[in-house]
Amino acid sequence: MSNYHIENLEEYFQVYRQSIQNPELFWEEIAKENFLWRKKWDNVLTWNFSKPEVKWFEGAKLNITENCIDRHLDTRADKTAIIFEPNNPDEKAEHISYKQLHEKVNKFANVLKSKGVKKGDRVCIYLPMIPELAISTLACARIGAIHSVVFAGFSATALATRINDSDCKLLVTSDGSYRGAKKIDLKGIVDEALESCPGINNVLVAKRIHTDVFMKPKRDYWLEPLLKEAAIDCSAEIMDAEDPLFILYTSGSTGTPKGMVHTTGGYMVYTAYTFKNIFQYRENDVYWCTADIGWITGHSYILYGPLCNGATTILYEGVPSYPDYGRFWEIVEKHKVNQFYTAPTAIRALAKEGVSHLEKYNLSSLKVLGSVGEPINEEAWHWYNDNVGKKKAPIADTWWQTETGGIMISPIPYVTPTKPTYATLPFIGIQPTLINENGKEINGNQVSGNLCIKYPWPSMARTIWGNHQRYKETYFSAYENMYFTGDGALRDEVGYYRITGRVDDVIIVSGHNLGTAPIEDAINEHPAIAESAIVGFPHSIKGNALYGYVTLKEAGKNKELSALKKEINQLITEQIGPIAKLDKIQFTNGLPKTRSGKIMRRILRKIAEKDTSNLGDISTLLNPECVQEIIDNAHN
Ligand code: WTA
Repeated sequence: MSNYHIENLEEYFQVYRQSIQNPELFWEEIAKENFLWRKKWDNVLTWNFSKPEVKWFEGAKLNITENCIDRHLDTRADKTAIIFEPNNPDEKAEHISYKQLHEKVNKFANVLKSKGVKKGDRVCIYLPMIPELAISTLACARIGAIHSVVFAGFSATALATRINDSDCKLLVTSDGSYRGAKKIDLKGIVDEALESCPGINNVLVAKRIHTDVFMKPKRDYWLEPLLKEAAIDCSAEIMDAEDPLFILYTSGSTGTPKGMVHTTGGYMVYTAYTFKNIFQYRENDVYWCTADIGWITGHSYILYGPLCNGATTILYEGVPSYPDYGRFWEIVEKHKVNQFYTAPTAIRALAKEGVSHLEKYNLSSLKVLGSVGEPINEEAWHWYNDNVGKKKAPIADTWWQTETGGIMISPIPYVTPTKPTYATLPFIGIQPTLINENGKEINGNQVSGNLCIKYPWPSMARTIWGNHQRYKETYFSAYENMYFTGDGALRDEVGYYRITGRVDDVIIVSGHNLGTAPIEDAINEHPAIAESAIVGFPHSIKGNALYGYVTLKEAGKNKELSALKKEINQLITEQIGPIAKLDKIQFTNGLPKTRSGKIMRRILRKIAEKDTSNLGDISTLLNPECVQEIIDNAHN
């Protein structure tokens, strides 16, 4: 396995150089030596960013499930592939071996076939984090159906939009789901959605919460009896490397969600290779990513990346706070988790509750910590590093996107020295660059600009389902011959990257460009403050002024608010300069967040601009109730 596992910094630089000097040769070797192909490619790469068109391993034939499952059966048949950890800690965890996974996926694939699903058909999966989610996703891949997993926290409207956009013909769901102490009527949401989805002919329903649900005759089928009858053999459909593997929706800054299309060969190679290196996975390690499979992180780093490496991956059904804030750490201790991958929003929520929850558990198995989804602020980074990793388990702050398919910029733990809030160096094969306001590449270090990628990588999304023009406009039109990420970044004196946030979050105050993330970082260092979000609002002299929404920790709630406001601006002045001081500060009980934990700045911006007439659809938020509270108290 040449170069498959990077072991020191010198080697990283050497392999990186090779991967940039001759990308085709580099990826060809990785692909050839580490995966199972039914036929090798005719061309490693064809690309043109102005069309845009990108093809990796064209002409190659494979099935990704043979790589994720079948090829491990000789040596890892009894090894645990998936550990299912239920919502309720009193319910026993389930260990699914590679051999069992093989049978379960095959049976599910046969059920899909019996309902008429064929290669190229779209199947929508709307399930909680239970084994059927992983199994049905892989079953689609087994028969060449394109899966579109929709996060099971989305509303009926959001689900229907996604089903219709990609014209799905079958839906997989469950009677309901558990979320902490709550039960959610998933089937009810599905029934409502399907009123406006004429394309869905069959619905397969898994039993999870065992409630009575409406089953529409000739449309809805309980999975269990179908699986029982299904044959345990199902030969894998042989796919072209560029055949679509899945569609995954991601919100744009405007408009309808974008169905990002990922294809088979390149996605497999890149997710497997990044998984192995960034999580430093070794045989017999237990790996846990807390994301939901409804997001790209779950696709690439709960399922495909780990399984391609024959890893043991945990599927956790619940939330960090149930039955209490010690739940994550209890799971780490119980399964002796070696790699733990989560999001800054979870870290902050846990940090807010103090370290007493951590102290009860033995976390000494942890070797690598990961972070993903948004910039990790300095305070959260240190909390994670000191209390969870005990300063011994390096943090991989992994920057990437639904569109990139895999991790793009990240330290390689034990190889790249880390630096708080820095995603550090590009991964092997990735060529990032920064672009200035004139659209020119910025050379040298200690600079900041818009983050672009100059050269294709194997797991990049190939198009937006049904709208190639939008794909071109969104990602390839801002700068010629570049993939534009929509993020801003800075590069420090040694070439480390720090992602500063979406560039649409840059606010120009008195002619100065101010990123919201560093201001928020400054504020969040205040011991009384849990979280903050900064937006701009029109100002007659400065052009824009800054509005800060701030949530307090329990301990901060008895503080004098006017004193707190002064202290916040003092901190900002100290860390960034008086130019970044806030004109308005509003204390609130919550910040509106997407289901994946991102703050919805669009809504906060509108409220700051006193334009609340059209806030758009807030029903898909995690906490829509906080919006009215914020409106009621705005500008006081
Ligand atoms: C942000 C998640 C800073 C970024 C995999 C990106 C990050 C967007 C990081 C993609 C990170 C993700 N540091 N920002 N480590 N990871 N982001 O599509 O703005 O849900 O463009 O993919 O999240 O979010 P998405």
